[in-house]
Amino acid sequence: MTRVLFVCLGNICRSPTAHGVFEQKIKAQGLDKRIEVDSAGTASWHQGNPPDSRSIRAAKGRGYALDHLRARQVTVSDFDQFDYILAMDANNLADLEVMCPAHFTGHLGLFLAFGGASEKEVPDPYHGGEAGFQHVLDLVEDACDGLIQNIVNR
Ligand code: 4NP
Repeated sequence: MTRVLFVCLGNICRSPTAHGVFEQKIKAQGLDKRIEVDSAGTASWHQGNPPDSRSIRAAKGRGYALDHLRARQVTVSDFDQFDYILAMDANNLADLEVMCPAHFTGHLGLFLAFGGASEKEVPDPYHGGEAGFQHVLDLVEDACDGLIQNIVNR
C-alpha cells in the first residue's frame, strides 16, 4: 500500500481538491486497493469543517466529490503513516520540513513537481474569485496524473 497526504494551509481549498480528484482518479483506474489518500492543513483554524463551498462547487462541475471531506491539522505522526507528503506551496513545505522527523524515509516535496505545468506552487484561491478555483483544478488534475504514474512505476 502506498499512502499519499496532500497538505495546504487551511485544508479547505487546495488540499481537499487534490484529495478528491486523486481519490476519484485512483478509483477509476482500479488502484484504490493499492493507493490511499488523505489531506491536512498546517493550520488548525478549519478543523472538522467541510471544504470551502466554492471548492466543492468547482470540483463538482468537473465531476469530483469533495463534500465528504473534513479538515484536520497535519501532525508529526503523519510522517509515520504516509509515503508521500506533498505540499501545495513553498510555505506549506517549509512548515512541513520543520516538523519532519529525522527518521522519515518517504517523499516530502511540492505536489506540482509531479505535474507538467511551469508553475511550482498551487496558488491559494481563498481570497480570490472563481477563476482561482478553476486554475487550482487545472493544476491538480495534471499533477495527480503524474503522481499516479510515479507511484505505479516505482
Ligand atoms: P487552503 O486555503 O490552504 O487552500 O485551504 C485557505 C483556506 C483558508 C485560509 C487560508 C487559505 N484562511 O486564512 O482561513
